[in-house]
Amino acid sequence: MTQNIILIGFMGCGKSSIGRRLAGRLGYELRDSDDLITARAGKSITDIFNDEGEACFRERETMELRELIDSQGIVLATGGGAVLREENREILRRIGLVVWLHSDPETLFERANRNRKRPLLDVENPRGTFNALLESRLQVYEAAADRKVDATGLSHDQTVEALLSAIGAQS
Ligand code: S3P
Repeated sequence: MTQNIILIGFMGCGKSSIGRRLAGRLGYELRDSDDLITARAGKSITDIFNDEGEACFRERETMELRELIDSQGIVLATGGGAVLREENREILRRIGLVVWLHSDPETLFERANRNRKRPLLDVENPRGTFNALLESRLQVYEAAADRKVDATGLSHDQTVEALLSAIGAQS
């Protein structure tokens, strides 16, 4: 199995932490689009949103995804909004197998709202914003994904096993 794996899904679903474990199991390298963006920009996601606005953040996101098109042996953890642009969805399909990592809304909200690193939820009514964003994105994830893994109630280890099974790499 030499196919790259791309994890998509809402904020708080565990793309980065689960992605790291999955990469370890596959002997792949982890790429995290948010990390690539912050490294190039030399500032945090929050600062990019504040200084440049969301549109510029999305430009940066597309640029980093494009850079990964020829990568091999990677697990790519994307930002929760990476699938919003058709251009990005096309790039992700070119990179590899797109897997939607999902969980129940309570878990997603609890994790996503744990710190202030997510500018989209750093608002007066984070739960309301969360609900609206999730609702508007579910069908986008569904349409963009080749596979879906629902991690509701699963430990990290169990989630990795479920992912391995979903991508046909069960050991
Ligand atoms: C975003 C999700 C974040 C980050 C940015 C925007 C989104 O990534 O890219 O704050 O639009 O859902 P995570 O999904 O890793 O939190």
